[in-house]
Amino acid sequence: MDAPPAAPTFPALQLGSLQVWPPTVLAPMAGITTPPFRHICRRMQCGLVATELTNAEGLARRSAKTLHFLETWPDERPLAAHIYGHDPDVMARAAAVAAELGRFDLIDINAGCPVPKIMRRGEGAGLMKTPERLKQIVQAVRAAVPLPVTVKTRIGFHYEHLVIDELAQAIEEGGAHGLFLHGRTVDRRHAGFADWATIARIKQARKIPVIGNGGILTAEDALRRMAEAGVDGVMIGRAAIGTPWLFGEIAARFEGRPWTPPPAAEKIALLMEMLEGQVRLTEMEHKFRRRIHYAPEISSVMQFRTHLAHLLRGRVHQRDLMRQCMSVKTLADVRAALEAIIT
Ligand SMILES: Cc1cc2nc3c(=O)[nH]c(=O)nc-3n(C[C@H](O)[C@H](O)[C@H](O)COP(=O)(O)O)c2cc1C
Repeated sequence: MDAPPAAPTFPALQLGSLQVWPPTVLAPMAGITTPPFRHICRRMQCGLVATELTNAEGLARRSAKTLHFLETWPDERPLAAHIYGHDPDVMARAAAVAAELGRFDLIDINAGCPVPKIMRRGEGAGLMKTPERLKQIVQAVRAAVPLPVTVKTRIGFHYEHLVIDELAQAIEEGGAHGLFLHGRTVDRRHAGFADWATIARIKQARKIPVIGNGGILTAEDALRRMAEAGVDGVMIGRAAIGTPWLFGEIAARFEGRPWTPPPAAEKIALLMEMLEGQVRLTEMEHKFRRRIHYAPEISSVMQFRTHLAHLLRGRVHQRDLMRQCMSVKTLADVRAALEAIIT
């Protein structure tokens, strides 16, 4: 057997009092980073996971629907509550509700969501236009909770209009314990080129820990970005969809251990466990939903199609398999599709 590669000497990621090892973070993804998925990513040795985007107003009011976004599964921690809003007072109250639940290790403030409805209210990426307000939000949230506080944002609105220098300064002055920095601009949403040179520049310019995000697809990418950009950690989104064991490979590479991918049967069992967890979560959710369009199984399976689509990356020529995957309706359909893809 080949000797394992030399262990790189990256320190643990330190976010205030929270130490994260390995320094890998699952990016918050609406509709994807639900408790069963986060639980599997943690089991695969992802260092830190984050909830779906949660509305601060609903949380401050303790609305059952909003609190459902902060549902958690056993063994997920360390876990960040990822919240959005524009009013420092409401954000502070929302963070206090999340902290009181006793299930979170970190409050993460969203300042990068490009959805127009959210931006128009000055929330999400709308906060990138108002660094002073973002600073007030960080200060208010810090004063309201005993947990570390971070911000997730982007480098700018478009490549000719980067705002991250001023923004990072405001975030640091507000007292945030870390900055999750997506190297894409608002107009690019989640696709295209991620500007790691700018991420590296911000890391150099500021004292606050910077966790780089954007376009990491492989363990090799994760190591290279850590080494070249000098960031304190890496955040991974889409590459983990359908393939959460990527975190296991990255952890092994960070620790200089050899890594062998889980056998096909184990991968399928992991993904089925995740899907079955999603069905249970949806059953809980349906208890307080007024209108229910689909039974928990079918709605969870439809949501799972995203994972199947990601597993099919690079296999678009396999039309029958694509059709099979995009028409799954039951757990048995999903198992059959997974058995066809993962061999
Ligand atoms: C389906 C989807 C949903 C997302 N939802 C959120 C979100 O709620 N909050 C957020 O800060 N970013 C969100 N993002 C952005 C990711 O957190 C991440 O910044 C982005 O996907 C870039 O990382 P990647 O290139 O590794 O995927 C989302 C991305 C995707 C693909």
